[in-house]
Parts: sequence; C-alpha cells; structure tokens
Amino acid sequence: MEAKKAGISLQDACAQAGARIAAMPAKQKIVTCPLCAEQFLSYEELTAHYLAEHPGCVAPVKLRMTVNGRDCSLVVEPHLTLKEVLQLHLGLTGAKQMCDRGQCGSCTVILNGRPTLSCNTLAADCDGKTVETVEGIAVNPKWQPLIDAYCRWDAMQCGYCTPGFLVAAKALLDRNPRPTEQDIKEALSGNICICGTYPRHSQAILEAVTYMVKGGAPNA
Ligand code: FES
Ligand code: FES
Repeated sequence: MEAKKAGISLQDACAQAGARIAAMPAKQKIVTCPLCAEQFLSYEELTAHYLAEHPGCVAPVKLRMTVNGRDCSLVVEPHLTLKEVLQLHLGLTGAKQMCDRGQCGSCTVILNGRPTLSCNTLAADCDGKTVETVEGIAVNPKWQPLIDAYCRWDAMQCGYCTPGFLVAAKALLDRNPRPTEQDIKEALSGNICICGTYPRHSQAILEAVTYMVKGGAPNA
C-alpha cells in the first residue's frame, strides 16, 4: 500500500526530512546583528559591536546543540524559543505552532530524551543538549513501522498536529516499548487534535508496536 496524504507520498516526505537535516548548517559562518543587520565573521566581533553600537541591549548568545544526531553551533537572540531556532536557524519546520503557549503539543520535540514543548522552551537554555525532531524520526528506519501505521490508520485529517503526536509517541516507545492503550492515552494527553483523530492514534501506535516487536513493517 502506498501511504499518501495531502498530495505527497510518505517516501517523498521522508526524503524531504532527510534533505532538511542534511542542509542544517553545522556552524554559522556569518553572524548578523539582529538589530541593525550588520554582518560579522565571529561572535566576538558581534559582541564588541553590541557594546559600541547597542549599549544596554542584550547581545545574542552562543548555542551548541546536537540536533537529530548532528552537532550545530549557532548564535541566536536570547529571547528566541527552541521552536524558532529550529525553524529559523536550522530550517526544521516539522515542529508545528498551533497555540504558541504550551497548550496543544503540536510543537513537541525530544530534549535530552524527554518530550518537550519547543514553543515555550528558551533556546538559550538548550546549550549542550540533544534535540530530536519529527524529521529525525522520519529518516530513521527503526520508526518506519510507526509512520506506516499512522498512514494505515489514517490517524490525521489536516495533519497539523501529527508531528507533535508522532514525537510524543516516539518518546513513549523509547521508555516503554510495549505500552498499553492506557499508557498511550496518558503519553499523548498533552497533545490536542482539533480534527478529533484521538482514537486512531492509539490504534496506530498499538499496531506499530506489534510490528516493531516482530521486526516487520505494517505494509511489508
Ligand atoms: S504550539 Fe507549543 S504547545 Fe501549542
Ligand atoms: S489532524 Fe487536524 S489538528 Fe489533528
């Protein structure tokens, strides 16, 4: 069965995720002042510029993270959230913004092994941490049965909430590879779907677990 949703095949979506990860800059070569757009070749030049030209303003901060297995070194404004840095600096748009206030779960990523709302997590607090996004899940063959099961059960309508559910499901299966339906409901309780696809998430995850334990794939 070809898993296809919203005009794009599952294979194409996973390939796009891989391309986005490959395109992530390991290090910012040019540092741009967010206040006046002047460009610099180093963080030190930027901070000297702040002292001279923007006294009293808080300078951008250095940030090192491992994102989907790749080390990234960035200079970011201190008020940016993790979601904004993933999207604006790294080009990873999989974590979605529905409420932007920690209520819906659509922006969920895995931070140091724990499901985390990236819309209300300051990027500056993530220095030295490990981040997994839905793109990283999409390109990892281990999680193909989970993605296939979501497609087989049609556990999405508009699909906007789906990345958050998938990330929360992956975090659950990392710590509990054989969850019960109740375990799944509790793990996904922080995720909201305004299209009302709730029952299908449990069905898809339970089916994925069956295939992952057996080592096969739902559409094999
Ligand atoms: S967008 Fe982050 S919880 Fe809703
Ligand atoms: S599928 Fe539309 S919000 Fe969940």
